[in-house]
Amino acid sequence: MTRRDGIALRFSGGLLLCLLLLAVPARAAQFAVASAHPLATGAGIEILRDGGNAFDAAIAVTAVLAVVEPYSSGLGGGGFYLLHDATRDRQVMLDARERAPLRGHRDMYLDAQGEVVSDWSMNGALAAGIPGIPAAFEHLARHYGKFPLERSLARAIEHADDGFEIEDYYRRMAGFRHEVLKRYRSTRAIFLRDGELPPSGTVIRQPDLAATLRAIARDGRDGFYRGPVAAKLVDAVRANGGIWTLQDLNQYQVVEREPVRFRYRNADIVAASLPSSGGVVLAEIFNMLDELGHHKAGKVERVHQLVEAMRRAYRDRAEYLGDTDYVDVPVDLLTSRAHARSLLRNYSATRATPSTELRAIAAASGGSDTTHFSIVDAVGNRVAATLSINYPFGSGLVADGTGVLLNDEMDDFSASPGVPNAYGLLGSDANAIEPGKRMLSSMTPAFVRTPARTLVSGTPGGSRIITMQLLAMLEFLRGADAATIVARPRFHHQYFPDAISHEDNAFEQAMIDALEKLGHELKPMSYRYGNMHAIVIDNASGRLDAASDPRVIGAAAVAE
Ligand code: GLY
Repeated sequence: MTRRDGIALRFSGGLLLCLLLLAVPARAAQFAVASAHPLATGAGIEILRDGGNAFDAAIAVTAVLAVVEPYSSGLGGGGFYLLHDATRDRQVMLDARERAPLRGHRDMYLDAQGEVVSDWSMNGALAAGIPGIPAAFEHLARHYGKFPLERSLARAIEHADDGFEIEDYYRRMAGFRHEVLKRYRSTRAIFLRDGELPPSGTVIRQPDLAATLRAIARDGRDGFYRGPVAAKLVDAVRANGGIWTLQDLNQYQVVEREPVRFRYRNADIVAASLPSSGGVVLAEIFNMLDELGHHKAGKVERVHQLVEAMRRAYRDRAEYLGDTDYVDVPVDLLTSRAHARSLLRNYSATRATPSTELRAIAAASGGSDTTHFSIVDAVGNRVAATLSINYPFGSGLVADGTGVLLNDEMDDFSASPGVPNAYGLLGSDANAIEPGKRMLSSMTPAFVRTPARTLVSGTPGGSRIITMQLLAMLEFLRGADAATIVARPRFHHQYFPDAISHEDNAFEQAMIDALEKLGHELKPMSYRYGNMHAIVIDNASGRLDAASDPRVIGAAAVAE
């Protein structure tokens, strides 16, 4: 049957749109995209509608986000793609995380007095790791996709050439990083107007970025990691005090890794593995919750258990977790039930455990902007991808002549034992800087499957990503729909600081009183955080339910 009356795409999140597409052949199954920007969601849906699969759509969405969401991700950054290949019934994590430059070393952010200089790890060329996104494009297209890169990147090239209109959210992010954006002529020229924040509605054009995307479309990874683009990247980094070499770019490789898999009650959970801390920390937390009989707990006890489990798992994150290509991490032990039981030995149902009472660690680190998207195609392939340039607008430096805004992901390393990074996270030797090493991340794209339904989800949010995913998964397991899952009020504990930070609508006064009585310190936040994009699959019918976080401007669309 061919429907000639078009299809309605249901958009949710920051905006509600209806799109009429004429003469679209009917499909047996639905497909969906949820991302942080309507133009990226539109590009993904277009690829799926034209016969591309979820992996082609992931390339298109990543590339459009690189153009229209410059504060969150981009060609100059990295990320993790959690893939479900329906044909092979196989899940894999594509690790496109940035790597430390070969000339990087553990003390590179310490001054002569041994103090961490956070300006060096957060702003400008020295803060930038070697990007992974362009290599992910080629890998996805070559090993998983159906379309050539020319086709998957076309919409992003168009948006870079023609420009996109900025929203209030862009102004907020640019305002946060205004000082560093003003530092570099190449950056000012693109993202500011006369050194000031452009008004909402301003059209940002990026012809150099369009040319770089064309080079990748034509030459694959070589269009970025070799040749004229690579030379310009290295020149710009070196001219601004950085340490990249052509060798760094030439030898960058993405890695396919086995995700972390664990079971919680009737759910199979698959989540990002190291160098993302997400899967290990989530497994630890869920194991503790199961030991505590979380599903039977009362209202206050549930929050208390969650906080106590978060506290203990984030302590382990700080001590043990790092890039397994460089350090031995006892993942099997950390994710075992025996370890959960040992972590709970000093758990009390009637008193908060002060973090200082947990075994001390030598030292503890995360990033805040970042982006996430979720995709399901008509044959059941899935992608959950969380991508980042770390801080809003990354390092703030656009490499002259490339349009590429460089990340400041190096701040996710532990610059010095015991000194928290921009997200207040601590770290140890396991996450110390070494040449070519990947910095520990909190990005946690994940799938949760119960007999009835499957969740595809993720969010930006630095150190809070893992606890946002935890709360979303619990909401899903309670039967919530996608809109409820992404809107759920949030709270977080990360070992240090020893306090529950929470959105203003997370707790009623009675709950606050009860938690304080248990000895918890509560810190209400002055803003709501996260930008989750989720798709829920009904396993039996294949019907999809997609939603974007109402806190920001994203868009979700389901089509058939
Ligand atoms: N830069 C954010 C993260 O990887 O956790």
